[in-house]
Amino acid sequence: MNRTSLFYSVLLLLVIILTMGSVTFAREETEELNLMPVPKQITRGDGLFRLSDSFTIAIQGKKGGARLGKAVTRTLRRLSDRTGIFFSQDFIRPGGNVQDADFIISCNRQGKLILHEDESYQLRITPEKIELSAETDIGILRGLATFNQLLNADEKGYYFPSVEIKDAPRFPWRGLLIDVGRHFMPVEVIKRNLSGMAAVKMNVLHLHLTEDQGFRVECKTFPKLHELGSDGFYYTQEQIKDIISYAADRGIRVMPEFDMPGHATSWFVGYPELSSAPGRKYTIARKWGIKDPTMDPTREETYVFLDKFFAEMTALFPDRYIHIGGDENNGRQWNANPDIQAYMKAHNIPDNHALQRYFNQRILKILQKYNKKMVGWDEIFQPELPKDIVIQSWRGQTALIKAAQKGYQTILSNGYYIDLIQPASYLYLNDPLPKGALLTEKQKKYILGGEATMWGEFVSPETIDSRIWPRTAVIAERLWSPGSIRDVDDMYRRLPVVSLRLEELGLLHEKNYGMMLRRLANSHDITALKTLVDVLEPVKGYKRGSLREYTSYSPLTRVVDAARPDAVVARHFRELVNSYLSGNKGTKDEIVSWLNLWKNNHGKLLIVINRSPILKEVEPLSRDLSDLAGVGLQALKFRNEHKKPSEEWIQENLIKIEKAKEPRGETELMIVSAVEKLVESSK
Ligand code: ACM
Repeated sequence: MNRTSLFYSVLLLLVIILTMGSVTFAREETEELNLMPVPKQITRGDGLFRLSDSFTIAIQGKKGGARLGKAVTRTLRRLSDRTGIFFSQDFIRPGGNVQDADFIISCNRQGKLILHEDESYQLRITPEKIELSAETDIGILRGLATFNQLLNADEKGYYFPSVEIKDAPRFPWRGLLIDVGRHFMPVEVIKRNLSGMAAVKMNVLHLHLTEDQGFRVECKTFPKLHELGSDGFYYTQEQIKDIISYAADRGIRVMPEFDMPGHATSWFVGYPELSSAPGRKYTIARKWGIKDPTMDPTREETYVFLDKFFAEMTALFPDRYIHIGGDENNGRQWNANPDIQAYMKAHNIPDNHALQRYFNQRILKILQKYNKKMVGWDEIFQPELPKDIVIQSWRGQTALIKAAQKGYQTILSNGYYIDLIQPASYLYLNDPLPKGALLTEKQKKYILGGEATMWGEFVSPETIDSRIWPRTAVIAERLWSPGSIRDVDDMYRRLPVVSLRLEELGLLHEKNYGMMLRRLANSHDITALKTLVDVLEPVKGYKRGSLREYTSYSPLTRVVDAARPDAVVARHFRELVNSYLSGNKGTKDEIVSWLNLWKNNHGKLLIVINRSPILKEVEPLSRDLSDLAGVGLQALKFRNEHKKPSEEWIQENLIKIEKAKEPRGETELMIVSAVEKLVESSK
């Protein structure tokens, strides 16, 4: 063989190897990952990194700081917990021995907890080595969140797939609001939700700290605020510092909200002179809804008070942004107060909007004095406010776009109201920057991101996780991942996996379901109850409060509270029926087996209901589930036998179906539309 043909033979061999390589590559390309949020750029490689007890991690250099060491140690311990592997490595500090390590981490500096901080990272996993690098330690934290989601297993053990990821967020503000004003949430609730947020790369915890129903932070200057306004349920300043430090360890900012001038009844219990009807005696509000009590923007004493108040609070909360609420001021106290009316006349303030604008401008000056930037709900978006305020849009997308067009920074919450129980698909497709939005490139930059809002009327420490998770993970993806990532089916494929990973962090959205059902069943077997509640969802939107009068001390332990948004079994059944009716006969057996399960469930559940009065309210739903399952089975039979049901049969059952759509116990049966489709299709 001469040199030329040797060259060509080697080349040919190389081509064959490479081709084989790419065949392998193609196979692994289709092996599904369960990443949420999906990274900006991901390339699958060959082979995998196998995990063993000799696995070690090292942080290159000392630029990363203490937060990085803690985060990496947490990652190693979690890996150990999930795999049962006894790693020899214990605690990891910056400046480790990089030579022998399997996983090398490096960054250039400690990130600051500020808007627009660099959170990008690169993660490279090969069969031999793992490398994670970033500009900041916060970027490393985001990369570790991805790393945690990549762990996989096969019959040979645990592994990480070969990948190369280059990732950075689409929006710099990715938040979760927790309303601790309406129902107080102990520190542990906040901490476990911060862990969940970090796992899906969210970076702002918005604490809604004051409401008509509660003032939730210790105030040393004006102690009657928390002493008289909270029923004893407030965070001490030490607890606030603990929350802020826990969040900072996870690269999360904490922005406090002190809602004013409305939503402020709890302030007036101790300091009625702040209100616009100061002669009144105030008590903490117990019912929900928009209340009249409102701060008096026309008295200088109000601003003297708020100046001192913000002096203390701006020192307690290190974040640059502070939220002043500004929403839902009904103006009734202003209209009824002759002094306020006289003031407006004397100062050429034509209406309540203008009066609130005046108030906002005064508050803004105070915040500026303390070097803070002001955030408020979209009601505060009025001309004359400087361009460095941030508008949080809750009433509509239009307000968001308009504000950005005018050069205001905005965050979207309209459509991310997770308390309203909409399905994950709805939240997922809601985009702060929808395709075709009439914005220039410069204006687009004003849209900072969004926040999921966990309003507190109907949540307790026991149920709040199930309203936040797993759905907030899809909002996190919308805010982090490229806008082109919008495949709802793929989101629903990944979501159950993500949900269980979140549970590992101590979140109770999965675990408490069983506990609540056991309590509801009064210690009897929960099988039949679970079969029913698996296909129930709480009513959506603002309906729950309209169906029954609730207070801040109403029980949140009924079926409606155990039932979860986006009921997985019901959605699966609806998908089966859709698939069947569009010609996929393969789903029929499973449809039949669900219908049989439900048809026979009522008799079993009735035994439990009769021993547990709290379940009485769902008896009609249970009966409907059985009845409709029977109807569904009949409809399938007609289809199968190519027979047409009588017009009478159809009408009778469509009436039954219509009735079954009505909520009972503030819950809805989520398989009714699927049975309706089966009946319609048998015509
Ligand atoms: C709001 O929901 N009132 C901000």
